[in-house]
Formats: sequence, C-alpha cells, structure tokens
Amino acid sequence: MQDQIDQYSAEINAFSPANADELETFRIKFLGTKGIIKDLFEQFKTVGPEEKRTFGKVLNQFKQLAESKYNELKEAAGSEPATQNIQFDLTLPGDGFNLGSRHPLSLVRNEIVDIFKRLGFVVAEGPEIEDDWHNFSALNFPEEHPARDMQDTFFIKKNNGKDDIALRTHTSSVQVRMMENGKPPFRAIMPGRVYRNEAISARAHCFFHQVEGLYVDENVSFADLKQTLYHFVQELYGEGTKVRFRPSYFPFTEPSAEMDVSCTICKGTGCNMCKYSGWVEILGCGMVDPNVLENCGIDSKVYTGFAFGMGMERIANLKYVIRDLRLFSENDVRFLKQFQTEII
Ligand code: DAH
Repeated sequence: MQDQIDQYSAEINAFSPANADELETFRIKFLGTKGIIKDLFEQFKTVGPEEKRTFGKVLNQFKQLAESKYNELKEAAGSEPATQNIQFDLTLPGDGFNLGSRHPLSLVRNEIVDIFKRLGFVVAEGPEIEDDWHNFSALNFPEEHPARDMQDTFFIKKNNGKDDIALRTHTSSVQVRMMENGKPPFRAIMPGRVYRNEAISARAHCFFHQVEGLYVDENVSFADLKQTLYHFVQELYGEGTKVRFRPSYFPFTEPSAEMDVSCTICKGTGCNMCKYSGWVEILGCGMVDPNVLENCGIDSKVYTGFAFGMGMERIANLKYVIRDLRLFSENDVRFLKQFQTEII
C-alpha cells in the first residue's frame, strides 16, 4: 500500500494539465466519490490496529497533497484568460462593427458651434427651468404685455399669486444670465432646448432647440450684426447663399429684424419648401435694447450689442429636407441611421 501511495504521489506532483478537461479528470480520478483516495480509505478500514497509526498519517498526507494540488491548479486556471486553449482561425473575417450615428440636431448644433467658435464666440448654457425675470422681465417684456402671449408658456409655479417659474420659452434667457454674471465684452452662442405649449404636429412641437447669439462691446453696430450673420450663412449653406433682412419686432432688440436666406433647396428659383418665394426665414435678430443692458447692470451709454436666435430644427430642415418636426424626437432608427457620420 505504501508503494502504491508513493507512486500516486509522484504522479500527482508531476501532473500538469493542458486544459480544464484534464484537470477535471484528475479530480475525478483522485478526489471523486469513486476515486483513489476514497478507495484507499476503504482499504484503511481493513488494516490491523498496529498499522493504523502510521498508515493513517500517510494516508491523510496523501489526501492533502491531492487536494492542494487540485486547488492550486484550479486557481491558476481561473486567473488565466478563458481563451487560453481556444484555437483561433485568424483567417476568418471579423465581426461587423455597428457604428452609431449622430442625431441630425447634434450635427447641426456642432456645425453652428464650429462656425461661431472660429469667429471667437464661446459656448454658454443656462437652465431649462427659468423664472419670469430671466425669461421675460429682464428681456423688456412689460408685465401684462401681449408680447408675452407670443410664446405659449408652460408655467410650473406661482410666486405671490403670480406665474413665476416656467420652462424657458427661448434661449434668450441665457443672454440675461450671461450679462448679469459677467463683464463686457461678451461674444457667445447659447444652444439649448426650449418649451412651448403647442399642439404637436408636423410643423409645431412642445419642445424644440434654439441657438442664441450675443455680442456686446463698445461700438458694436448693425453692420457687425449683418456681416457676422452673412458670414455664418456662407459657411453653413455655402458661398453665394443670399441673405435679406426684414424689419420685425422683439421686445429685447431695437431695431429688430428677421433674416431670410435664399432657399437652400431650389437656390431661389421657387419650390414648396420656400412656398415658391425663393426665400426662407432662419432667424430673428437685432440690436440689444438698451433697457435689457441696463436690466443686466451694463452701462448702455458705453456698450452696444447685437443678438440673434435661431431654431435648430429649422436649420436642419433646410439642410436635410426633413419636413416633419416629430421625426426629431421619435428616435426611429430608420430615420436616425441616415445620418451616419464618420468617426473622427
Ligand atoms: N427669442 C426669439 C424667439 O424665440 C428669437 C430671437 C429673436 C432671439 C431676436 C434673439 C433676437 O436674440 O435678437 O422667437
């Protein structure tokens, strides 16, 4: 019996499995319920009492040897990559790699941001939940003035019985925050989501996206406004895109204008995108009203500025001919994957 154990011990010490199956075979052979150790313990019951003492010790040492060898090998196998013994066929083609795509509004926002960054504008952001002051009052919307109804506001909280906290109806509120919290000059664009209480249809939505622009410094004139926006349009829609400014009204700018570009689809010859006029409106703009500057603590005798605001969905419509606003927020993959972009 001693000889047999010596032989098994040598086998155990020399054992080095090539894979997990061999290790399992080892376990079954020595440590399994019908294994060698079990068998030796059975034999042990039959030896005489004088042999029991020495033989018992030998047998227990042998059992420990087998167990520790097994545990050691098992642990080592667990810490190695599972692929260790898998045979690879390196000639097989790789699995397809599905790239995500950027949302068309992100593409448009990035492009607008890039153009203005090259002109030295920084990007600023503000909260979507706003108070009356930042969304209306500071922007020269008098209380009870009908101009407040131009934007169907989602009010969420009253203050002293009056509607106060609301989902911002435009990104112009960020202008106010910027001017209140800093010192001129300001040269910033402010992209973000805005909300209006509109019934959802192909042409209107209860939320959409705007990019606001603000430039305040000494001696800023309407000529600066025109040239900046003209340059922007050339970059966005290509050289030769025409622009025209029409007088308009916004409480926070004086004078105010709306800017049209020659239709990007038909190049001005007339199509149903431009309702056969050859022109499409893309933004509102104007010289910042001195009242707004003063409301934000800026001396309107020293500083002047211009501002503009555009809807990103509108810009995307003209770029990609997307006629239904709802597509932007439905997350339909068939729509989204058409905007596959290269990974940079
Ligand atoms: N806030 C305006 C709107 O939502 C857009 C706008 C017009 C922003 C003129 C401006 C501006 O900064 O000067 O309709």
